[in-house]
Amino acid sequence: MRRPLVMANWKMHGSRASAAELIGGLLDKVSEPRADIALCPSYVHLAQAIDACAGSAFVVGAQDCSHMHQGAYTGEVAPDMLVDLGCEWVLLGHSERRQYHGESDDLIAAKLAAAVEAGLKPVLCIGETREQREDGEAFPVVARQLLGALAEQSSLANLVIAYEPVWAIGTGLTASPDEAQEMHAYIRAQLDELDGVDADDVRLLYGGSVKAANAADLFAQPDIDGALVGGASLDSAEFAAIIAAA
Ligand code: G3P
Repeated sequence: MRRPLVMANWKMHGSRASAAELIGGLLDKVSEPRADIALCPSYVHLAQAIDACAGSAFVVGAQDCSHMHQGAYTGEVAPDMLVDLGCEWVLLGHSERRQYHGESDDLIAAKLAAAVEAGLKPVLCIGETREQREDGEAFPVVARQLLGALAEQSSLANLVIAYEPVWAIGTGLTASPDEAQEMHAYIRAQLDELDGVDADDVRLLYGGSVKAANAADLFAQPDIDGALVGGASLDSAEFAAIIAAA
């Protein structure tokens, strides 16, 4: 049985004051959750979040990391630095990094390998654009992203996949539970073809306009094991309600 996982992707939002208020609100509202919960703030709020969540049901992850462990990579953050800080998770391959930073499947594969080597638990983000879905390309695109990132991996024990259809991110156009379940089942079938992965153990998160109002119907699907939440995670009451639905 896969334990649900609900993750918050704060993206480039927040200040030290708002981060303290949001985490404080969550700690007040969430007790004995049935799901694992992780908060992924901006790099600059990681240490604060880790300290604030210490001893609670919340753990902290980063939104990205370098593919290198150290060296002359100005502006980058090594996965080892994130582990040293106390991070447990890292998001990789988010569509916004693929879109705005041109991250390739090969680079994401290298980041995934470095993150696992450093001891982080990786969340691999994959998902098609509206054009790709309308062109009937959603499944091959998702398969390419998935297999392209996992091709050279040696250990995938803690792998989590987040399916985030790009057309549902930040748009309010949530995929229907049936649409999401269809893709999640396809992703699990693709994982089943890989050596070194027990597909039944891999948690598959849905991301893309998850709200308190739609979370329960999504979580009721057999291959949806949780959510990666953007905008709704910036409101403690809304995010607490999503956690409660898991
Ligand atoms: O990583 C999660 C994010 O891309 C989803 O954003 O605002 O649609 O929940 P949102």
